[in-house]
Amino acid sequence: MLDSLTPGSGGGNLGEEQLAWLDGVLSGRPDVPAAIFLHHPPVAVGIPAADAIRLADGPALAEVIGRHRHVVRVATGHLHRPVTIGYAGTVLTVAPSTWKQSTLTMAADEVIGWVAEPTAFLLHRIEPDGCTTHLVQVSHSAGQTCGF
Ligand SMILES: [Fe+2]
Repeated sequence: MLDSLTPGSGGGNLGEEQLAWLDGVLSGRPDVPAAIFLHHPPVAVGIPAADAIRLADGPALAEVIGRHRHVVRVATGHLHRPVTIGYAGTVLTVAPSTWKQSTLTMAADEVIGWVAEPTAFLLHRIEPDGCTTHLVQVSHSAGQTCGF
């Protein structure tokens, strides 16, 4: 678990100290599948409003993860939409929200907002030879209970 919170900013950052800690932890047990969790996606996903507040030091995180072949999953949130991306030689998943889903707004001149899609979470099944991720929807209706 990494802490990407940057107080006073919507974006995230890990910093050299935390990245060094991660490198050391991953080096300590190279025979055990590792999953890394943090809030902010470390790469752009094609949603300009979200990409502007992604993890600032994503390339540095990719450099660390790339040295450790036993990382079977990198999991983030922040977007309120499910996204899957190849990243640093492994798979990056972005979880949907258990509250509200954001719009798939891929044009910079369109305003991002909320969309009435089911709430959901990701279930990661980690085994010795890898990781399988299931999308689990937890609401049967797409109605919003509140909004802005
Ligand atoms: Fe967030």
